[in-house]
This record gives sequence, C-alpha cells and structure tokens, in this order.
Amino acid sequence: MTINRRQALTQIIGISTAAAGATLMGTSAFAATDEAGNYKLELGEKLKYVPLDAMATAKLAYETGGGCMHQVFYSLIHMLSLSDSVDAAKFASIPTALAGYGAAGIAGQGTVCGNNNATGMLVNFLDDINGQNGAVIGALFRYYENTELPLSSPEFVAGIGSTAEKTTDEVVSSSVANSILCHSSISNWSKASGKTFAQKGERCKRLSASIAFHLVELLNIAYKGDTLPQSKPSDEAQACQSCHGVDATMSSAASVKTDMECTTCHTGHFN
Ligand code: HEC
Ligand code: HEC
Repeated sequence: MTINRRQALTQIIGISTAAAGATLMGTSAFAATDEAGNYKLELGEKLKYVPLDAMATAKLAYETGGGCMHQVFYSLIHMLSLSDSVDAAKFASIPTALAGYGAAGIAGQGTVCGNNNATGMLVNFLDDINGQNGAVIGALFRYYENTELPLSSPEFVAGIGSTAEKTTDEVVSSSVANSILCHSSISNWSKASGKTFAQKGERCKRLSASIAFHLVELLNIAYKGDTLPQSKPSDEAQACQSCHGVDATMSSAASVKTDMECTTCHTGHFN
C-alpha cells in the first residue's frame, strides 16, 4: 500500500485533518503538530531506532553533499525514514537541511567537527536504546579522536563506491585527529598528506562515510543490548576528572565537565 504525505501524517498523529481542525483551540493535546495539523518533532520527544545496514548508510553519506554534518545527519535520517521503524514517517519529516551549518567545524570556524555534531543531534532524539544513548555518543567521539581515519580498506572503498586511485591521489594518508575538533582533524591530515584544507574534498566525504558507518555499528550494538567499546573517557582523562570533578573538586582545582582527551590541550601537571 502506498500512502501520500498527508495520509502518512494523519496516521502519525492518529486523527483526521478535520478532527484536528475542530480541536485546534486546545493546542496542548496536539503539541507535536503545527497549526495546519502537520507533525512536528517536539522538544523531548524520542523516535524509535531500528538496526540499519552500516555500509549502505556509509555509501549514502559518501554520495550526499552539503558538508560533513549534513552527510551524516541526512544519511541516517533518510535510512531510518525507509526502515520499518514505527516512526519512519516522523523521521521523514525531519528538516535535515538544517544540518548544513555544521560544515568545516560550524560554518567554517574549525570548531566541533560536523560528524560529531550530527551524531549528537541525531542520538539526542532517538528513543532509549537499552540505556546506552549517551554511551553511543561517547564511543563515537572517542573513536573520532583516536582512530586513523578516513577508513580506506579496499572493502570499505569499494563499499561506498570510491576508488583506490582516490585513496592514493586525494586522501594520500589517513590520520588521527587527537580531538573532536575539525581544526585538528584537518591539520593533522594536512601534515600527514601534504595537502591543504582546500583539497580536503574526497578525504572529508570519506570521513563522513566512515563516521556514518561506525555510528550505525554502535547503534546496532546498543540495540542488541551488547556493551559498547570505548564509551568511557580514556584512563588518563578519568584520572584528571577524579580531582577536576563535576560536583566536587580537589582543593582549589577548577571543576571540569568534558570527556575529551585532556592532554591534547593541557600538559597535565604531574609529568
Ligand atoms: C590529585 C588531584 C589532581 C589530578 C589527578 C589532576 N589535577 Fe589538575 N589541578 C589540581 C589542583 C588542586 C589544581 C589547582 C592548583 C592550584 O590552584 O595551584 C589543578 C590545576 C589544574 C590546571 C590549572 C593550571 C595549573 O596547572 O595550575 C589545569 C589546566 C589542570 N589542573 C589540568 C589537569 C589535567 C589535564 C589533569 C590530568 C592529566 C589533571 N589536572 C589532574 C588537582 C589535580
Ligand atoms: C580542546 C582543548 C581542551 C581539552 C581537550 C581540554 N581542555 Fe581544559 N581548557 C582548555 C582551554 C582553552 C582552557 C582555558 C585556558 C585559559 O583560559 O588559559 C581550559 C581550561 C581548563 C582548566 C582551568 C584552567 C585554569 O587555569 O585553572 C582546567 C582545570 C582544565 N581546563 C582541565 C581540563 C581537563 C581535566 C580536561 C580533560 C577532562 C580538559 N581540560 C580538556 C582546553 C581544553
């Protein structure tokens, strides 16, 4: 059975358009709809994840333009809109174009990489996945910090529809970001490859494919109820946090709330 957009939306909100019109003066009962009765994601509302095909999502991310944040956000949302999630039609209504601002570390500022930004934006409104939504974000951020990326194995390159020539000529070398920042990711790659920021095209498209791939892997692991790899801060960062706590600190130590690798930016003070 095929249904059009309005029928789909009617199914989502569980009422006919006429009924919606008749009851519009009481907005609270239909808080997740606009004045015209169209579904709209509400603050705090959660949509159901179902396992996706990691490589198909990575390939879609690779083929999708609009910058790294859009590539990751759009590809997962689009796959979920085609999935058998009970919320598939709701996923289809998400305005993925909003993710365009995340390119090059938020509109070219080189701050939070759009791949990480997209991960947070998506996982924030996924329904509870065996209590591991936060762990998915942590594991993805630690993976981004510590892994040689983009993935460039022959299987991955073929899977996303790229070529070995592009690996040698355009990516040249994978590299470790050491941080969740766009800046360090690109500059460490530049150092490893001899290329400039302006030449990052294939490398960053492939990075977003790599992150889409791993994000789906992590979400699928969480969905199965298995334990996620690397979801905690590194041992070193946890040691720093033991004195630089969130609600208590050691003597005059400043309070810290971050799971990033501290020693990328600080030398620490016991070495
Ligand atoms: C045993 C507790 C303890 C641990 C572990 C610890 N700190 Fe501190 N840290 C402190 C205290 C106390 C101060 C405040 C010192 C002062 O006021 O002179 C401080 C100060 C700092 C400062 C402010 C600048 C400075 O050096 O005074 C930074 C930055 C810092 N710590 C980073 C770190 C990092 C990074 C780690 C982990 C590699 C870490 N700390 C581990 C207790 C700790
Ligand atoms: C991406 C870089 C970055 C990372 C990663 C990072 N910090 Fe910082 N941190 C900063 C900057 C920048 C400041 C502000 C420094 C300044 O004003 O001189 C700061 C400030 C601090 C301060 C207060 C500084 C002071 O002089 O008292 C502490 C303590 C601190 N960070 C601890 C940590 C700990 C612990 C971690 C890891 C859990 C961490 N930081 C991770 C960049 C970072």
